[in-house]
Amino acid sequence: MLTREENDLLTRTGPGTAMGELFRHFWQPVMLSDELPGPDCTPVRLRIMSEDLIAFRDSDGLIGVVDAYCPHRNAPLYFGRNEERGLRCVYHGWKFDVHGNCVDLPNCWEGETFKQKVQILAYPTVERAGIVWMYMGPKDRQPPLPGYPFMELPDENVYGNKFETACNYFQSLEGDLDPSHNAFLHSNLATRKPGTIVPAMWNGDPPLFFDTDYGVQMVTVRPDEPGKVAVSAGHYTMTTAASVRGGTVVRQMNFRTPIDDANSLFFRIRYNLTGALDERELWEAKHGEYLYPPLIPGTFRSVANKSNDYLIDRVQQRFFNFSGIKSFIIQDVAVTDDQRGPIADRTRERLVSVDEYIIRARRRLMRAARELQEGRPPVAPFHPESLGLLPLRFTMDASGDIETALREQVEEQMEQARQRRPSSATDAAAPARPVGDRDRLAEAKLIGIAGA
Ligand code: FES
Ligand SMILES: [Fe+2]
Repeated sequence: MLTREENDLLTRTGPGTAMGELFRHFWQPVMLSDELPGPDCTPVRLRIMSEDLIAFRDSDGLIGVVDAYCPHRNAPLYFGRNEERGLRCVYHGWKFDVHGNCVDLPNCWEGETFKQKVQILAYPTVERAGIVWMYMGPKDRQPPLPGYPFMELPDENVYGNKFETACNYFQSLEGDLDPSHNAFLHSNLATRKPGTIVPAMWNGDPPLFFDTDYGVQMVTVRPDEPGKVAVSAGHYTMTTAASVRGGTVVRQMNFRTPIDDANSLFFRIRYNLTGALDERELWEAKHGEYLYPPLIPGTFRSVANKSNDYLIDRVQQRFFNFSGIKSFIIQDVAVTDDQRGPIADRTRERLVSVDEYIIRARRRLMRAARELQEGRPPVAPFHPESLGLLPLRFTMDASGDIETALREQVEEQMEQARQRRPSSATDAAAPARPVGDRDRLAEAKLIGIAGA
């Protein structure tokens, strides 16, 4: 349960809010590259963290994301002409490049000199994995690109798509941090086991949790061969990244980006570290209606949505699956879109032990937001390899110290990631290297486990 103040802190991400400022210190996925298919194509409206923006691809193929309204007299730039390296307002012809510079101001005598004093709000963007990533924070703290495992893979190894959900980002994210719901929401009647399901799944022992500088780790320990235990760890990574349902070949990461406080974008990225995604995987992703929901043509809204009760089929529910809802992903959406509204009322909930991952993630984010308010910005964005940790699986002596073993495994994985990372990945296409108290950050030791 959260107090009303805590719930507000957790869920509000507009400009000037504590959580919104924290989010703005991290690169966020905001749209698909395909939404801007070629140079000088039609601009696209974008609303991210309650800011109205326009995205366009210029003649050189670079993506600009600028304020939705012209700085002259606030005309909507959506109607702008995308021409010769800039977006031109159709009201009086002012033109802006992808960096927000006014490059033409043709409607007055002083235009040639005055244009140098005019800027439009513009955010740096980078394209990776078919997705446009955007940084909306202070210019002097722009971090390197996050080291998500798919960021430097060839196109054929990655498939990502997005859809809109009609709820706050965090309640959508909670589904990824909720180990007990799979055995119910996503189960089929034929394979469901009776009784107390989740403790049995974990061999009776609850998982362990560790707060880290980048997020939270959930660790399960199971008996293995005599004298050994098998340890597996998953990561929640600030601000909204979760590795879920990762197979050993095709892995998956989910992200949520707030559109505003009551709507969010759900990005799901599937990738193969060692080779191209095969045809069957791609077909399943695009047409299987299981991993990604079918969308209303021309939109990113799912066909099954709140207005039609997510197409729940009560016959299916009676005889086949637990929820009666066909698509796996829509099963999640149906129970998270409305938890006493699009912003869940967390003053009215009764959490139990198995909700600890969610509790930890909430606290971790709120702590980071408060620290930023007190002048201590997050260090994780400047340790990009920490944001791309893969789920861990290893065996160790049953008598060994799990925390130490985990720390070593995490360090080793981060070192491998640092070595894999091309030097170009540290520079975003657009401006500004991180400065400010960069020395302190360079020295800051990112330890996998900062304490339970
Ligand atoms: S309002 Fe855009 S140029 Fe005048
Ligand atoms: Fe789920």
